[in-house]
Amino acid sequence: MTEKIAVLMGGQSLEREVSLISGQRVCDALIADGYKVLPLDVTTDLVPTLRAEKPDAVYIALHGKYGEDGTVQELLEFLGIPYTGPGVAASALAWDKALSKRLFVAEGIPTPAWVTFTADAFKLMGAATALDLVPDAVGGFPLAVKPSKQGSALGLTKVESAEGLAEALLTALNFGDTAIVEKWIDGRELAVSVLSGPEGVRVLPPVEMVPVSGLFDFSAMYTPGETEYYVPARLSAAEEAEVVSLAERVHRVLGCDRVSRVDMVVDADGVPYVLEVNTSPGMTETSLLPMAAAAVGIDFQELVALLVRSVRDASV
Ligand SMILES: Nc1ncnc2c1ncn2[C@@H]1O[C@H](COP(=O)(O)OP(=O)(O)O)[C@@H](O)[C@H]1O
Ligand SMILES: [Mg+2]
Repeated sequence: MTEKIAVLMGGQSLEREVSLISGQRVCDALIADGYKVLPLDVTTDLVPTLRAEKPDAVYIALHGKYGEDGTVQELLEFLGIPYTGPGVAASALAWDKALSKRLFVAEGIPTPAWVTFTADAFKLMGAATALDLVPDAVGGFPLAVKPSKQGSALGLTKVESAEGLAEALLTALNFGDTAIVEKWIDGRELAVSVLSGPEGVRVLPPVEMVPVSGLFDFSAMYTPGETEYYVPARLSAAEEAEVVSLAERVHRVLGCDRVSRVDMVVDADGVPYVLEVNTSPGMTETSLLPMAAAAVGIDFQELVALLVRSVRDASV
């Protein structure tokens, strides 16, 4: 029997447009692979449609809030439909940078020094009166100010001096209820993709991103030509080994079975810092997981097939 796969895409997150591109490419790959494909833009019709159509599995091609934070995963478990990617707890943890960084520190995983502010700490507790303490708390300027739960560099500001901090925090808090202020690390930026299943963990070659503008922002992420990519990354053998083992540790610590992409920066001394983890990595033309897979001979169609074959059994 031909397996029917529902591909969830679009939805209401700020990364809707990116997800529609990922989703379309995933649909094409699944069709080419002989699956029966049901593309679904996520709306309030999602649950009745899934109940009526009874797909064998769901491919989650959503990015950002609701698709990557455990919301849709929780729903699919309730409906008993197997789905791609990490489970509820890992998704929720990885989506929350402030929480995952706490875990990194507890596990001895290097991550840039940071402080976290909720909007309520400003509104109810006078946190704004302590902003003067922030630069010293994280080791000085520049700072990365970003929403704790967002993606594609949305709401992120690089802050060079004290004047810019309050406004950057306001910007970040426009994108969610929590913001983090982090030491900016200058260095080589890497994305390290990890695949795992019953047969073990496989770390794909690190991809190095060099944005032409100097900042890996939304436009640099998705506009062909705005970023140069090096696969494998320009690392010494020792640096590469360290980065690869770090990605594997991060993947395990967050409980990210199936797939994750660990974003890092390696500073001038060769010290790697983990920025964050993505549990539904982009699948667009310029996306990093497909690039890393291609470097070891796994083409896009094969990558999608591999991910869809690894769906979790929702009945356990
Ligand atoms: N502390 C930091 N030091 C250097 N660059 C950073 C830092 N934080 C974020 N960036 C830059 O911003 C981009 C997006 O930040 P990231 O933490 O990966 O969040 P997301 O991808 O979820 O928006 C990174 O890929 C990197 O280019
Ligand atoms: Mg990132």
